Amino acid sequence: MTAENNITWQNGSVTRVQREQINGHKGCTVWLTGLSGAGKSTLAHRVEERLVAEGCRTYVLDGDNVRHGLCRDLGFTAEDRCENIRRIGEVGKLMTDAGLIVISAFISPFRSDRDGVRKLLGDDDFVEVYCDAPLHVCETRDVKGLYQKARAGQLAEFTGISSPYEEPLNPEIVVHTGRDGLDVCAGMILNYLRDNHKLQATY
Ligand code: ADX
Repeated sequence: MTAENNITWQNGSVTRVQREQINGHKGCTVWLTGLSGAGKSTLAHRVEERLVAEGCRTYVLDGDNVRHGLCRDLGFTAEDRCENIRRIGEVGKLMTDAGLIVISAFISPFRSDRDGVRKLLGDDDFVEVYCDAPLHVCETRDVKGLYQKARAGQLAEFTGISSPYEEPLNPEIVVHTGRDGLDVCAGMILNYLRDNHKLQATY
């Protein structure tokens, strides 16, 4: 039996708007995408710190962490990455419905997978942020030593080396994480959220 069969969506009596009004802001998913080592996780946590300092309710979904649990059965083939991103998208949708500001940090290298999440959440709830750092910068940082392993042929299908990264064509925000400081990049995201009325629960 597939999930489509014999299952009906249950609506509770508490609405998303009520949850957002308690939180004092809207729910949405801020989707960071970029190469390994581009600084997605660090930026996600800085954005979260700054939002929490303003009294927002938030949650960071991070690639390495999610792969310890929810997606522990998945590897790095195109099919597995697709399933990884699909699951995270579903989690982001639930958390957004809970009224949280979700900040996700996954390489999410394939445009079609990211577009799938956008479609699932809807344009209003999905803020795509391209963490644009040149490959040579990420490779020089090589915090986890994975680029070196990939160059040595010890790590198959490594993004940027032996597996493609498809840049977003029309992201809501581009941050230059290879060039600009953390707070400049975080500030751009906060400004976007403020300018687009995400940090208030008025409709
Ligand atoms: S994604 O492509 O499916 O979006 P995700 O963000 O969850 O990737 O995980 C990326 C992290 O897994 C990287 O930061 C890196 O630490 C680790 N990793 C291990 N193997 C690979 C690989 N072949 N390609 C990319 N990242 C890898």
